[in-house]
Order: sequence, then C-alpha cells, then structure tokens
Amino acid sequence: MAIPELTTEALEAILDFTVALARTAGDLILEGSDAIQSVTASKDVNEKKNSVDLVTEYDVRVEELVKTELARKYPDFKFIGEESYSAGSRPPLTDEPTFCVDPIDGTTNFVHGFPFVCISLGLLYKRRPVLGVIFNPFLNHLYTGIKGKSSYLTKGNGQPLKLPLASPPKPLPSLSQALIAVEWGSDRGEQTITSKSGSFGRLAGNPAQDVRGGKMAHSLRSMGSAALNFAMVAQGGLDLYWEVGCWPWDVCAGIVIAEGAGGIVTGSHDVFSSTSSGASFGDVTEEILTGRKYIVVRAIGETEGETCVEAQKRIIKEFYSSVEDVDAN
Ligand code: IPD
Repeated sequence: MAIPELTTEALEAILDFTVALARTAGDLILEGSDAIQSVTASKDVNEKKNSVDLVTEYDVRVEELVKTELARKYPDFKFIGEESYSAGSRPPLTDEPTFCVDPIDGTTNFVHGFPFVCISLGLLYKRRPVLGVIFNPFLNHLYTGIKGKSSYLTKGNGQPLKLPLASPPKPLPSLSQALIAVEWGSDRGEQTITSKSGSFGRLAGNPAQDVRGGKMAHSLRSMGSAALNFAMVAQGGLDLYWEVGCWPWDVCAGIVIAEGAGGIVTGSHDVFSSTSSGASFGDVTEEILTGRKYIVVRAIGETEGETCVEAQKRIIKEFYSSVEDVDAN
C-alpha cells in the first residue's frame, strides 16, 4: 500500500484535530484526578476502587478515547500507545504515519495530585517525529509543534506564544549556569540508583567544597513527566533535560516541540560522540527514538565566536563528561 503523503497542510489539519482531541482527553484526566483524590481523602477506601485501580482505569480510558477518535479520523494511520504496548500490542516501526501516544504522562504526579501531568500526542512519519501536542489540563498549558516550523505554547484561552519565550534565546556559558531536569525513573536497584545519584551529585556539587568533578549547576529539577520536561526545555524554563529509561511515547511529541523551538535532541553519550561532528547531527533517527536515552538542550543565543548548535554541542559534551552512563531497564 502506498504511504500517504503528509504535506505541511496535511500536518496542520492533523494538528487542529489532535489539539481538540488532547483537550477532550484533558477533561477525562481531570475527572480521573478528582476520582483519585476523593479516594485518598475517603476513610472507607474498601467501598471504592483504590487509587491504583483508578490510575489504570483512567490510563486505559484516555488511551481508548484517543485511539478510537484517531482511528475514526485517520483509519490508515498506525498507533503506538503506552497502554496498548503494555497490553502486548507492539507493532514494529514502519515508514507509515504512526501516532505515538502517552495518554497520561506523569502518572506518579497524577496519583499524588501534583499538577504536572499531560497527554503527549506525537506523530511519526517515515520513522521520524513530525508533529507534537502536549497538553497539561491542570494548568491549561498546550504545547504544539510541526516539524520544520516554530513551536508554540498556548496558556488558557490566550494567544499562542512562540517558543522559546526569550527572544533572542539566552546565552549559556556553561553547565554551572544551567537549570537541569533529571528524573529518578522506576529502576531503583543499587547499581542504577548509585550511578544516577552520583551523577546528580556531580552536576549539583561545588568543586570548591571538595566535590570532585562538581559542576555546581544552578539547580536540578524533576518534574515527573518526560513530555513536560521536553516542553519546558522548548519554552526555555529549563536549559537541559537528560533521562535514561523513557519510551518513544514519552518523548515523541516533545522532540518535535523542542526542535521547533531551536532545541537539539540526541541520544546516549555514544550516539552523541559518533554523530556530533556529522552533518546529520540533530536528526532524531529511529535508533535515537527507540534508544531510551535522551538529552535535549534549549536554543542558545549565538555569540560572535559560536553558533547556537556549537553551543549546544559544547553543553552536551560538558554534560556527558560529568555523568555516568546507565542501562535503560
Ligand atoms: C514516565 C514519566 C517520568 C519519566 C519516566 C516515564 P509515565 O512516564 O514521564 O517522568 O521519568 O521515564 O516513563 O509512566 O508517567 O507515563
């Protein structure tokens, strides 16, 4: 079967549809949150579903809603979603248009009522992320992007704001000036946690107070949602986000949004080292998309001696010389 041609006009129409769908999904996420918080508040939890049941129920319901509506409108497009994947549906990646969706990204936040939760709705085409919609219904923040075009943040009913919000983008002389997002992830085994916390310690630690290799970054943040970390890097509120262990549906939409805001995305230290001097650096290949190791750096203002991408490479190099590689489990 011939692969449908996705023109910019076609992507714009898909964006309109997926934005409306993300907002509808957002209402369901808020309903789920109310249900979960009322269980937590209730003394008589036995009479109701517990919060774990409710999280699973709403994860599945949101994914079903999105999957059904997308299939109705785009019957020829494929679908990869976190819940379908967990349930055993694992189609191989092809060149065909494929929606790549995390119905509720930030599940731990969702359980706790920490309002950094979103639906992350991405589209892959010819094995590359080409469209992204990230909607946080708690804050009513909508991030959108189409490959090759600018990305936007829409707050509430306001006008879309071009990303990054700082224009021109701010400089970034070194990691010591950076606000960095990292995540603890779900693998809390001895090896992973020791290695990760060692890396976090070096990023935050003061070399003048005996932290060997310390970068003394401005600070570290863990927002609890990979998609929102990407969105915040696109916005310019975070300088860099690094994580080992996420999945394509966590990052697909965020990659497009970050790129459209002048950000750069690549994979592991090895991938960075082997691609950073090539012309295709910044191309998020299938290997990077499925490699479960991601780093994204915001747009950096050009200086006389350095272009934006040179500055981004300098920051990634400094970063990877400070952290230990860990396996994605
Ligand atoms: C997770 C969140 C979390 C990140 C994990 C993701 P989920 O997605 O994005 O911040 O650290 O790698 O898997 O489970 O909340 O959909």
